[in-house]
Amino acid sequence: MTGHVTGQTQENKRLRSVVKGVGSALPRRCVTNRELEKEVETSDEWIVQRTGITQRYIAGEGETTSTLGAAAARAALAKANLAPEDIDLIICATSTPDYTFPSVATMIQAELGVTGGVAFDLQAVCAGFVFAVATADKFLTSGSHKRALVIGAETFSRIMDWSDRTTCVLFGDGAGALVLEAQEGTGANADRGVLTSHLRSDGRHRAKLYVDGGPSTTGTAGHLRMEGKEVFRFAVGHVTDVMTDSFAATGLTADDLDWFVPHQANQRIIDASAQKLHIAPHKVVKTVQSHGNTSAASIPLALAVACEDGRIKPGDLVMIEAIGGGFAWGAALIRW
Ligand code: UT7
Repeated sequence: MTGHVTGQTQENKRLRSVVKGVGSALPRRCVTNRELEKEVETSDEWIVQRTGITQRYIAGEGETTSTLGAAAARAALAKANLAPEDIDLIICATSTPDYTFPSVATMIQAELGVTGGVAFDLQAVCAGFVFAVATADKFLTSGSHKRALVIGAETFSRIMDWSDRTTCVLFGDGAGALVLEAQEGTGANADRGVLTSHLRSDGRHRAKLYVDGGPSTTGTAGHLRMEGKEVFRFAVGHVTDVMTDSFAATGLTADDLDWFVPHQANQRIIDASAQKLHIAPHKVVKTVQSHGNTSAASIPLALAVACEDGRIKPGDLVMIEAIGGGFAWGAALIRW
């Protein structure tokens, strides 16, 4: 055990943000690589080999970030056996809001019929969901709020340049949500809830992954631009920092993990990150093959799949981790 362990040996009563339910929503239309081949100069073989992606979901008429987010939130509330009025905090992580304002979170709040508490969006691109979990945890463990809906919702298909084959084959749309509830814990690692979270950002890398428009510059939504190789290199090189920090803060190790649920951008990034930290392959949850990269929605979508199929169970130790535009990156350890 290392010298900077917190909470493992001492029993300090403290609030924990405990997972009560998880839900997700996908657009109606699923687009396979084979279908994309007809529109884009690409091949199923190239996409699978370089990324692991075989299909993605693309939002159609009437489907937006807020409609997908609201559907995911409803599903999470149903799993938690809670009603909209039980929620006093809604954080929606998104980079593809329905409108510049109001926030998607307030649109979801209205859609669900939540009239109390606070709702706001958080933008940290692909790391958005980890940032939102960390933020909600700080609200809940301070005692200021009781139950949070933490949502990751995106429609990246709407900011794709469909003539750019280096990006348009990678992304998809969808939403996922967690209900977190403040509960008293003992302060030990055996507590259920968020045990620790670690966030980082470094704005010097803006040009490697960005959108070339916005309300204050072009007055348009713009299109996603990416230097894929550079992002790949940075992701594999740096994202393990925040995971190592999470282990150091708790005294837990990769062997203690039951599940590793990383951002789903590329199978090769996922495998390389897991390998670097000696996380056994059977503990890695991968959904990139069926969802593509759904940015802030990718982790809650993967969590929903792994809870639904019975892999993640109460008491399991789960590591979530993501990196994306900014760059911004983060990790959190959650006892389910
Ligand atoms: O969520 C966080 C943000 N995003 C990411 O994490 C993505 C990070 N980057 C990646 O996942 C990978 O870098 C990519 C999947 C984007 C690209 O893989 P790569 O192995 O780095 O390929 P590359 O960019 O070096 O391209 C290799 C070749 C090029 O051809 P030449 O120059 O070698 O002749 C590309 O023109 O593949 C070509 N290419 C394609 N071919 C068929 C690029 N896109 C495509 C395509 N279909 N869609």
